[in-house]
Amino acid sequence: MRQTLVAGNWKLNGSKESIQTLVKGIADGMSGVGGKAVAVCPPYVYIPMVADLVEGANIGLGAQDVADQESGAFTGEVSAAMLKDVGCQYVIVGHSERRSIYGEKDEDTAAKYVAGQKEGLIPILCVGELLEEREAGDTENVVARQLDAVINLAGVESLADAVIAYEPVWAIGTGKTASPEQAQEVHAFIRGKIAALNEDVAEKVQILYGGSVNGSNAAELFAMEDIDGGLIGGASLTSEAFLAICTA
Ligand code: 13P
Repeated sequence: MRQTLVAGNWKLNGSKESIQTLVKGIADGMSGVGGKAVAVCPPYVYIPMVADLVEGANIGLGAQDVADQESGAFTGEVSAAMLKDVGCQYVIVGHSERRSIYGEKDEDTAAKYVAGQKEGLIPILCVGELLEEREAGDTENVVARQLDAVINLAGVESLADAVIAYEPVWAIGTGKTASPEQAQEVHAFIRGKIAALNEDVAEKVQILYGGSVNGSNAAELFAMEDIDGGLIGGASLTSEAFLAICTA
């Protein structure tokens, strides 16, 4: 049985004050989330503060991106070792906003995935198709290509120590959630693709769904066989909305 994980991706949001309120609110509600794992991914600069706030609260901590390099002359970058040093367990790689707004390629994402794992971080590898790719019937090709970049560089076994997040780009921040059946179809495709290479890894890897998840639709999404939790954007920014998903 795979454990359910609900992770909040705060993106470019928050202040010291709002984040203190948010994390305290989540910590206070943790008794209601049952056996689920919960994690939050703040902007880099707030990670040390959140590390202090989550101490003893059973809330995991992740970053939203990471450098593909270890150290040196890479202005503006933050390394996996630094993230580990300040208390992260997870790092999101290949989020569609990194891919589409900042031009990150499949190979860049794969290099970040490897950099994170090398330091013992659990990569949350995001994959997902654009609306036009779905409409052209290309969803599985796109997701397969994004996964293959990582499998080719790091090996399929590496996915035993990773999390995959399927986030259809057309469902992110749009209020248009994939239906549980639409999401399950792609999750099953992902697990089947991995199973063709290694059945044990496929059985073990957590595959999260992301894209307009909220307290009203989380339960039916998480009930699907191959959906092992969610990566939450907008609804992770208040403790009420986030806890409604965590307790779903
Ligand atoms: P929303 O939940 O705001 O649609 O964002 C999803 C997402 O991109 C999480 O990484």
